Order: sequence, then C-alpha cells, then structure tokens
Amino acid sequence: MPRTADSALLRALRGDRPAHTPVWFMRQAGRSLPEYRELRVGTRMLDACLDPALAAEITLQPVRRHGVDAAIFFSDIVVPLRLAGVEVEIQPGRGPVFADPVRTRDDVARLTSIEPASVAAAAGPVRDAVGIVVEELGDTPLIGFAGAPFTLAAYLVEGGPSKEHLRARAMMHADPEAWHGLAGWLAQVSAAFLGAQIEAGASAVQLFDSWAGSLSPADYRAFVAPHSRAALEGLGDIPRIHFGVGTGPILADMRLDGLADAVGVDWRMPLDEAAAVLGGRTTVQGNIDPALLTAPWPVLEAHVGDVVARGRAARAHVVNLGHGVPPETDPDVLTRIVGLVHSLQP
Ligand code: CP3
Repeated sequence: MPRTADSALLRALRGDRPAHTPVWFMRQAGRSLPEYRELRVGTRMLDACLDPALAAEITLQPVRRHGVDAAIFFSDIVVPLRLAGVEVEIQPGRGPVFADPVRTRDDVARLTSIEPASVAAAAGPVRDAVGIVVEELGDTPLIGFAGAPFTLAAYLVEGGPSKEHLRARAMMHADPEAWHGLAGWLAQVSAAFLGAQIEAGASAVQLFDSWAGSLSPADYRAFVAPHSRAALEGLGDIPRIHFGVGTGPILADMRLDGLADAVGVDWRMPLDEAAAVLGGRTTVQGNIDPALLTAPWPVLEAHVGDVVARGRAARAHVVNLGHGVPPETDPDVLTRIVGLVHSLQP
C-alpha cells in the first residue's frame, strides 16, 4: 500500500469525502514564488526541468510554503519532446517555440519516425527528480503530468503559442491521416513521460489539454478524445485527472467514459453545474477564478466559500484554480486559501 493512499487527494480522486477538502494549485511551482525566481537565475527553463536536484527543490517549495495537499512535478508539457530530440525552447513570457514546425505530411512522417520509446530511455533525469521528491514528501502525494496530444500539437503545428490554434485544427480536416499520425505519436510520447513519473513514485497524474476548449464537440470527439484516451490508458492503477480550459461544451466527453477519475473545470462553469453534467461517478477539480486572487480578501474568501459549497454537488472535490497561478500573484494569498479550504466543512 503506497504511503499516500490515505491522503486527502487520493481519497477525493477515488470518490471519498475526506475530513478536509484537498487543495493544490496549477503552477504552484513557479514565478509567484521569490524562492523559485532566485533558484532559476541563469538557468533556462528546460535545463532546469532536466536538472534533478533543481527540479526536485522547485517541486517541493510550494508544499513547504503553502501546506498544499499535493505537489505537482516541476517540468513542462514539452519536456518529453525535448527528450525525444525535438528542438524546442521555452521563451520567457511567451511559451514553447519549435525550430521546425510540423505542418505537412512529410514533417509528420519525419517526427513520428522517432521511437516513442526513446522518451522513456532518456527520462533518467525525470525519474531521478521524482525519486528525490517522493522521498522528501512522505505521505503527501506527487502529481505527475503530461500534455494531451491536442495541446501539444497546438504548439508543434504552429511552431509556437497561438490564440485559436488554427493550423492544428485545420490539419484535422485537411489531412486527417497526417493528423491522426501526429496525435497518435504524441499520445505515446506523453504516455512514456507519465510512465517514467509513475515508475519513480508519482501517486496520481494529470493530463493537461489546456486548449481543448477551442475545439467543437464534434472535432473533439473525432480527432482528439481517442488520442487523449490512448495517452492515459495502460498506466496501471493510478488516479487520473483530465484538465482543460473553456471545456463547458465538452465536459462530459472529458470523462473519457470513466477513464478520468477527476475532471478539471475552469472558472466559467459553476461546479454544481459541472457535477450535473459529469454525473455521480467523477470527482471535480477547480475552480477558483485566478482573477480574484488580487481581490480584497473578503471578496476572495466569499468566492472560495462558494466554490467549496458548489463542489458538494459532486461525488468529491479537489480545490484548485480554474487555470494556473498568474506570475504576479501574492504567494501569501495562496497560503491563506489553503488555510481557508482546510477550515471549511467538506
Ligand atoms: O507548478 C506547476 O504547475 C508545475 C509545473 C508546470 C509548468 N508547466 C512549469 C512552467 C506545468 C504543469 C506546466 C504545464 C504546461 N506548460 C501547460 C499546461 C498547463 C497550462 O498552463 O495550461 C502548458 C500550456 C505549458 C506550456 C508553457 N510552458 C507555457 C504556455 C509557458 C509560459 C511561458 C511564460 O513565460 O509565460 C511555459 C513556461 C513555464 N512552464 C513556466 C513554468 C514555471 C514559466 C517559466 C519561467 O519561469 O520562466
């Protein structure tokens, strides 16, 4: 029995109602923390991700500071692509940028000729970092993660960040075969990255399909869901969280027929409505509005209370933000939210 099995997070992911509602924050390890900014001076983002001691320390910082119910592994969704030998950088203030965008059938063929197994083979630094983290965390769970095929493709096809992800969405229709080749390969790459984190001791995983909300439900079902499913299948008995932004119209699809134990909800949809859509077999995660982190405390306090109250409509609830912590967030506000959530009746 793993040491984290009775933690509030794992119990909530299994559908129990633990004595307090678990809370953690997407992007809790990052720029909102002065101790993070200090450690990162002089090291590029992806180099930091592949330095086991550094990645472990950054992963642990928010757990020590805020007392959150879980750590999220400090890494990035493009790390497995870097491990596969793809030329990618993360530009500060911008995001992932690829030297060679993958736009044509030939581009897809070149990329997918790389064995996904090469990711597992190169993932030593990831395993080492996870090992250090779980040792220090004791019975606090570590959440491993990966990018979903569509969100990764949104960067890869464009060559960098984009608003509407037009090129990736166009490829689905212009060349479905190339699209499925690309997304199927990305699913294997993400699965390999998740597998490395699980082998080294992660207690749960989250699949980030951050940009899935840009898809029509029909496109989501035909071109995306099968590949997200493939990324999450075959990981053994581990709780799975599936997250996206603006996913109201596809929320039920994001259950992946029960493969996801929990579905992340952003701030646009109240959790009681989300619970009604998801039915009684899925835990909800979310959905504090990141915009309210700068509001006066009484306003934020009432909002967090409302989120927890609406979360009672679901079988279980993991409190989080609707998306990541904005870099300019006062970290003391996050600590205060953790105290508040833990004090509220689940
Ligand atoms: O605390 C955590 O959540 C763990 C670490 C984590 C990072 N990226 C670290 C990071 C996680 C889970 C991610 C996932 C990720 N990366 C996603 C999905 C989640 C989401 O936000 O929707 C996406 C889309 C990416 C791609 C990416 N990486 C972007 C858009 C950016 C921001 C660029 C910027 O500077 O604004 C990154 C960089 C990144 N990833 C940072 C961190 C801490 C900032 C790097 C820095 O400190 O300069």
